[in-house]
Formats: sequence, C-alpha cells, structure tokens
Amino acid sequence: MGAEKVLRIGMIGSKFMGRAHSNAYVNGPRFFDLPMGVEMKQVAAQDEESLKKFAKQWGWESWTTKWRELVKNPEVDLVDVGTPNEMHRDQAIEAFENGKHVVCEKPLANTLPIAREMIKVAKKHKKQKAYVWFNYRRCPAVSLAYQMINSGRLGRILQVRCVYLQDWGGPETPLLWRFKKKHAGSGALGDLVAHSVDLARFLTGDDVKKVNGAVLHTVYKERMLLEGGGTGKSDVDDISLLLASFKSGMVASFEASRLARGYKNHNKIELHGEKGSLRFNLERMTELDFYDAELPAKEQGWSTINVSEAGAGHPYAENWWPAGHNLGYEHTFVNQFADMVNEMGGKKSLVPLPSFEDAYEVQRVLEAAVRSAKEGCDIPLSQVK
Ligand SMILES: NC(=O)c1ccc[n+]([C@@H]2O[C@H](COP(=O)([O-])OP(=O)(O)OC[C@H]3O[C@@H](n4cnc5c(N)ncnc54)[C@H](O)[C@@H]3O)[C@@H](O)[C@H]2O)c1
Repeated sequence: MGAEKVLRIGMIGSKFMGRAHSNAYVNGPRFFDLPMGVEMKQVAAQDEESLKKFAKQWGWESWTTKWRELVKNPEVDLVDVGTPNEMHRDQAIEAFENGKHVVCEKPLANTLPIAREMIKVAKKHKKQKAYVWFNYRRCPAVSLAYQMINSGRLGRILQVRCVYLQDWGGPETPLLWRFKKKHAGSGALGDLVAHSVDLARFLTGDDVKKVNGAVLHTVYKERMLLEGGGTGKSDVDDISLLLASFKSGMVASFEASRLARGYKNHNKIELHGEKGSLRFNLERMTELDFYDAELPAKEQGWSTINVSEAGAGHPYAENWWPAGHNLGYEHTFVNQFADMVNEMGGKKSLVPLPSFEDAYEVQRVLEAAVRSAKEGCDIPLSQVK
C-alpha cells in the first residue's frame, strides 16, 4: 500500500461500468471532502484502440490489455472489477492475493460455489477491503428510507415488494455476453433480482429464510450472433419471478424482466410496516413516498419527500446541489466511492457499504431461486451454503 494517504486505483473494464466508475473516481474527490487523495493509476480492457481513447478521456495514467499486469501493479492499491460476471472470480482473487483492496461489480459470481471461493479468499485477506457495487443503496432516497426504517418509522415490516423491469427489445437484440450462462451465470436473476435482494436485505436488516417458489423463464432461445451471421443459443432467464420469506416472518416478492416494453430502468421497492409504508422507484430517483399510519386518521395519505435538502439532513445532499436540483444514476456510484474512501480513511460511511458477505448472501438467494424453479418446491436457505 502507498505510504502516504493516497488511494491508487486500477480498474478492469472500460465500457458501461468503466464509464460509471471512472466518473466516480474523477468526481468523488471534487464533491466530497475525502480523507485520502485519489489517483487513477491504470485501466485494463480488451480492445486496445478504444481503451487508449478511454484512458485519455477519463484521465487514467496508464492502460493495459493484460489485466494480470494490473492486479500485480505495485502502484495500485484498489482493484475495481467491472467485467462480465465470469471474470469476477479470477480478477478479484488474484487482486486479493496481490495485496489489493477490491471492489467488484455484481453479481459477485456466476455460481454459488465460485462466490464461496471468492469470499474465502476475501476473508483470508481481512486487512484488505472487499466491496461490491450495489450502488442503489446510495440513491439518497434509498439511504433516507434506510435511516427512517432504522429509526422505527415503519415499525415491524410485514412485506417487501420488489419490481425491476427493463426493456431490451425483442429477439432482434443480438447475443451479448449477458444472454449466455457461461459468461453471465444467469439473466434477469443475477442482473436485476440481485440488486433487489440486496436492497431488501439492506433496508430491512433481515435475511431470507426460504425461497417459496420461483419461475425463471427464457422467452427467446435463439439470438443473432454479434459477428459472422447466424444465430446462437440464449440460455439465461429473460423473466424471473420469486417469492421469499425472511427470518423475521416478513414475506417478499421479486419480479424482474428484460422484456417489459416501455420500462427502461424501473427499479422499484415498496415496504409495508405496521406503522407505515415506504416506496421508491428509480425512475423518480429523487423522491421517496411515505405513508405515515401514525398520523390522525383524517390526515393520513401518501406524501412525497423530495430527498435533496441539505438543511433537512437528507443523505448526500450537502455534497451536491441546492434542493430540488436533481441527481442521476451516476451519483449513486460517486456516493458509494466517497463512502468507501471515507471508510478506508478511518471515517464512517453514511450508510453501510455492500460487502462481499452481503453479495454472498444475495448469491445464496439466487441459487435457491434456481433450485426452486428447477425442482418446483420451496428451498430453505439452510440447504443452500
Ligand atoms: N451496478 C450496476 O448498476 C451495473 C450496471 C450494469 C452492469 N453491471 C455489472 O458490471 C459488470 C460489467 O458490465 P458492463 O455493462 O460494464 O459490461 P460491458 O460489456 O459494457 O463491458 C465489459 C468490459 O469488460 C472488458 N473485458 C472483457 N473481457 C476482458 C478481459 N479478458 N480482460 C480485460 N477486460 C475485459 C471489456 O473490454 C469491457 O470494457 C457486470 O458484472 C455487470 O453485471 C452493474
């Protein structure tokens, strides 16, 4: 690790998440008063031409098409894994073994046994931090929901409803790595339900006890190959539905689709408690809806909180713009990165950071859903280790 208080970053992957994460590294130190400096040391990806351009555009000091060079680079303290899911294992494990902190994209791995291997190595290197990009925890409205739940505003939570819908078009969408089990592990399940399960666990502080049934449905089984003509097999779920019960007795539903026409990134969570309800939808990211059942009956009704008021103590508001000047998707990554640096620098993160342990627990739920869908029965999490 560097002797002075500087965090030197190496990132693998330079496309969608590469851009989102680079933006966090550029803007984190500009908008947050961080306990350490940040240096963007090296980026790795596959295509040399676009990588060179990417590195220059985002201010990475160097680039390489060999990720193993990056995980061994003595000038790198934190390795960011933002590659297709099948690569997370080797890249994260080798980074830990080379003494690096790691932040990995979700889902942690393609399968539960691989996730188990990863968590074992992370635990062996306990002085090194191990985070996962469950970035939606840091939508300010979600962080506020966390704070409200923890201060007892909902009382006992009875039910959680998670809906995560996207619109990837029809069978004309080509066979990206995301449609292949070998590369992605699963489809909507690992991609979308993983986020929802993390949010449900994060907000309620509760763990899934049993998956009470699941449907994993592949609608389009053939897709056009990206190159060379012809078609190839898509073998992951396009639509995932599952029911679950939690240790506290709370019940939950998770619904996710990549084929929901019109829904571009509809990530919604709703929690019903004895004293009130909360609902959040990423499509209206600044807002948190609250129903306070403790108000006199004649005053009860849904209210919408615009979560952007620094003076009101809204999460992350003091780091951004005046009230009502909305934030977007990219801010969730900046907020998470700032909290990671704060924690590494000995300060407290505003709300808990997603750890490898969290991602492993999510992976157990995904595995239980796969078994439940296959076997047509309930799967207690005690049987999924
Ligand atoms: N947190 C979120 O909101 C969110 C959103 C999208 C994707 N993701 C996750 O992020 C990860 C990456 O997804 P993406 O959408 O950025 O994928 P992408 O296809 O846009 O980019 C993948 C990157 O990985 C690089 N890569 C592939 N093989 C490589 C190799 N052998 N060596 C070095 N680099 C290699 C590619 O060059 C590319 O830069 C996935 O795990 C995905 O599930 C998370």
